[in-house]
Amino acid sequence: MIRLGVNIDHVATVRNARGERFPEPIAAAHAAVLGGADQITLHLREDRRHIRDADVELIRAGLAIDLNLEMACTEEMVAIAKKVKPTHVCLVPEKREEVTTEGGLDVATNRDVVKSTIDELRTAGIPVSVFVDPDEQAMLAANEVGADIVEIHTGRYANAATSGAGAVARELLAIRQAATTAKQLGLRVHAGHGLDYRNVWRIAALPEIEELNIGFAIVSRALFVGLPAAVREMRDEMLRARELAGQDL
Ligand code: PXP
Repeated sequence: MIRLGVNIDHVATVRNARGERFPEPIAAAHAAVLGGADQITLHLREDRRHIRDADVELIRAGLAIDLNLEMACTEEMVAIAKKVKPTHVCLVPEKREEVTTEGGLDVATNRDVVKSTIDELRTAGIPVSVFVDPDEQAMLAANEVGADIVEIHTGRYANAATSGAGAVARELLAIRQAATTAKQLGLRVHAGHGLDYRNVWRIAALPEIEELNIGFAIVSRALFVGLPAAVREMRDEMLRARELAGQDL
């Protein structure tokens, strides 16, 4: 089985754009559950540009399914995670000027802060994932600092579509090799970023990957078909790809 984490950050982006109280992320979370989401994913950014502290608390309290909290390695975020106790935390790099999370966390360069963040969260009983680029060194570094899970950044794969089939194949191979290495190291493997209804199947077909976290494509599709249907369509794509894996994709 492969699980779908639905990232609803951009429901909050719409709310905040008008300084309104709606659309409410908690309502979006319930709608995503109706569509078959296995998990809600929220990125509490340091600048609170979309999701806010109150959204995280409301969703944690009001929802029976898993919550994946994406956050930077800061003392403030660790304190929030310890209070909220999400199902797991995903550590991401954060630059204020970026539009979205543009690259994976450089675990080797930031070894001490990543390790101490992981230690503190794990001591609080929270499993930790690190969002990393698809390369072997990143998998080794994630393992070395004690991560439970790697979330492989699929942004380069998604962007490769504009450069042709060869580029897509190269990026897919990098993800595949990284996923295999991570699994051999005993890490659990998730993936996400830039996945949409057209490109998700190749990633969902990789047997090492247990979970995909997808936001922008689902929230965009929801404008036309509603959120439960948008989630259901994505889930169906993923499950079909997984079923077909092993056949000639
Ligand atoms: N996974 C992580 C760690 C992310 O930071 C993001 C973007 O917030 C996603 C997945 C989802 O990316 P997208 O919105 O492009 O589906």
